[in-house]
Amino acid sequence: TTVEWEAESYDMGGHDTYMHKEIHEQVDAVDRVLRGRIDDRFSTVHLGGLNLDARAARGVRRVKILGCGSAYHTGLIGAQLIEELARIPADAEPASEFRYRNPVVDPDTLYIAVSQSGETYDTLAAVQELKRKGARVLGVVNVVGSAIARETDGGVYVHAGPEVCVVSTKCFTNTAVAFALLALHLGRIRDLSVADGKRIIAGLRKLPEQIAEVLRGEEEIKALAAEYANAKSMMFVGRVRGYPVAREASLKLKEVSYVHAEAYPASELKHGPLALIEPEVPTVAVLPDDDLLEKNRATLEEIKARSGRILAVAHRKQEKADHTIVVPRNEVELDPILMGIPLQLLAYHTALALGRDIDKPRNLAKSVTVE
Ligand code: G6P
Repeated sequence: TTVEWEAESYDMGGHDTYMHKEIHEQVDAVDRVLRGRIDDRFSTVHLGGLNLDARAARGVRRVKILGCGSAYHTGLIGAQLIEELARIPADAEPASEFRYRNPVVDPDTLYIAVSQSGETYDTLAAVQELKRKGARVLGVVNVVGSAIARETDGGVYVHAGPEVCVVSTKCFTNTAVAFALLALHLGRIRDLSVADGKRIIAGLRKLPEQIAEVLRGEEEIKALAAEYANAKSMMFVGRVRGYPVAREASLKLKEVSYVHAEAYPASELKHGPLALIEPEVPTVAVLPDDDLLEKNRATLEEIKARSGRILAVAHRKQEKADHTIVVPRNEVELDPILMGIPLQLLAYHTALALGRDIDKPRNLAKSVTVE
């Protein structure tokens, strides 16, 4: 199935920027990526264009995801989902690094190229190199019929609709959901139980309404953005599921507001970055209510002990943090999808407060089709 991109989808629809419009389109966009794909009878999903039969799916020994920028970050989320739900070892790497290092191409590895535009040169070149070496390559792509969609053996369309703002928001979220679908599909062909399949499906179905709930908190996030907009630099931390969220939130803030930001796994803080912590360098901590919450709270204490300010994104108020943005609870595996959304709004409102050119940040392009 393909989604027609009508001219009216380029209309600003009453928003001042495409970024704001696209953030608010996520409720419908996520609904669209799910539509027609859920199979309740077998507690799985149908992915019509995947072109990977059950026997081939069972033969996959590893998954390697390749992309650039925000697409690479969705790959980090995708790799975790595939490991958790399908129990296949998986990782993500920037496509440019992969293609320049003469990688060992393994016939039992499933390669996945991820791209909004489907035209990013480094990602396309990685696909071509893999194909030349006989690898099986799938695409997780937004633009239907794009170069990467054409050159891959099959894949999953992201159905985010046209994304105009250079900074990716709705496509990021939809791509993460597309990876959840792929992970569920692979999992149910392998060892994921019916009960877990049902649990994930129920979680996926809750996402659009929960995204709407997060977006209803925009005024509060706007006020927080005003409070943190003058930071010298911002630190973003998370563990495991929270870490790719921290990476993407840090990238988004840099791109659109030009505020310097760094992202670290929370456990790495003590190996260097703690030296940077001071009141002018606040930390955004991504703290899902999973089995790592206690460890994460210890990290907040370390930051507080160095007089750092903390903005937490969590499922309940965090006493150690100066502020908490509370997001609704879903299945833990899906936490990265919802937890990224308030941080898109934080980046947006920081950029707005600083008077930036939100849809076209300096020095950046929507798709980089050259080397
Ligand atoms: C550019 C954009 C990023 C984007 C990246 C990958 O650098 O500024 O926002 O994530 O390209 O683009 P793709 O179209 O492959 O997802």
